[in-house]
Amino acid sequence: MQSVLITGGAGFIGQNLVHAWCAARPDDRLTVVDAMTYAANIRSLESLIADRSILFVRGDIRDAALMRRLFDEHKFTRVAHLAAESHVDRSIVDPEAFLQTNVLGTFTLLKAALDAWRSWGTIDRARFLHVSTDEVYGSLGPNDPAFSESSPYRPNSPYAASKAASDHLVRSFVPTYGLPVLITNCSNNYGPYQHPEKLIPLMIIHVLEGKPLPVYGDGSNVRDWLHVSDHCDALINVIEQGRSGETYNVGGGNERNNRDLVGLICDTIDRAFAADPNLSARFPSCPATAGRSTRTLIGYVTDRPGHDHRYAINATKLATELGSRCRVDFESGLGQTVRWYLDHEEWWRDVTSGAYKAWIDKNYGYRIVI
Ligand code: NAD
Ligand code: TYD
Repeated sequence: MQSVLITGGAGFIGQNLVHAWCAARPDDRLTVVDAMTYAANIRSLESLIADRSILFVRGDIRDAALMRRLFDEHKFTRVAHLAAESHVDRSIVDPEAFLQTNVLGTFTLLKAALDAWRSWGTIDRARFLHVSTDEVYGSLGPNDPAFSESSPYRPNSPYAASKAASDHLVRSFVPTYGLPVLITNCSNNYGPYQHPEKLIPLMIIHVLEGKPLPVYGDGSNVRDWLHVSDHCDALINVIEQGRSGETYNVGGGNERNNRDLVGLICDTIDRAFAADPNLSARFPSCPATAGRSTRTLIGYVTDRPGHDHRYAINATKLATELGSRCRVDFESGLGQTVRWYLDHEEWWRDVTSGAYKAWIDKNYGYRIVI
């Protein structure tokens, strides 16, 4: 039985990880700490909180006194660190929050873990998992080999640079202080509970509301899509079985360019409307209601500055050392994700009200159609 701290547990991957952890290791004690930024949502955790399966603490990882108090009260033996500012476009508009949370917040948490585990004399039995991104490696050309754990760091956005800085800081705690850390660098996740500022949910919701689908640039940028459930399984495996001090890349083995991916989302929704007449009544602004292809909504807009062309992950180390492999086939994973957003309209309507609307105006207001 372990006492586990999950930071950022109210975010997209965090919520999925909490559910995966409770299912896989029901005897572990889970504490979730989350600052509840715009990206957070605890609705999916409410029943776990109510029946005391998990403890939820609203708090900021930069708060050193709170972090130390939580360690002392709950005697964590595992930390899965996911709390972060995670959206590239926001990091372009307002990078400071990224440095604050991703760099200073990670430092504060590392220090709290080190101090606690040293003072209890348990550092040899503890594990600290830092969840990071493939974006630290920069951008690949069309024929370049996929990123491996030894690829050089070449971050191109303030988000990627802040995650790169945090990775370096985490790694430095191994030789300097003997902190037992593991780092994972994963590709783009998709699945339930993803905030609609990110590509896949944004496009699904725009299709349902009959709004333009803003593809950046010419839509040739490639991402390697990883289902969040495969990612969470890999995270649990790495924290339990991974070699301390090591990095493991996690990828989906599903490279798609944005143009093709958005087209696939449109086709998936068109088929869902054709099969279920109730959807037309629920989403009257969607072109599929009138039997028109929703691909007609696709438009190309001003590119993201510093837009990385391609990400791809070589996940051989994870598979050969730890036996973790992706199980979710992309087309069925995308179909399930579309279904999830169709079935959780209230969830995304709540998220897309208020502050979200202000963000959409800011990010897409200045982009011209090309
Ligand atoms: P998210 O933005 O959905 O969630 C982040 C969570 O962190 C939110 O609940 C937020 O409230 C919380 N948070 C932010 N600042 C905090 C602070 N100072 N103190 C405490 N909590 C704070 O992000 P996500 O998509 O779930 O990503 C989780 C982790 O995985 C991040 O570290 C991210 O860099 C990494 N990652 C994500 C992806 C992806 O495709 N989503 C890909 C690679 C890596
Ligand atoms: P995103 O989901 O923001 O993830 P990341 O930037 O971390 O890869 O974007 C995924 C891809 O989709 C990226 O190439 C940018 C592109 N994109 C669009 O074309 N239009 C959009 O409105 C958004 C949000 C992203």
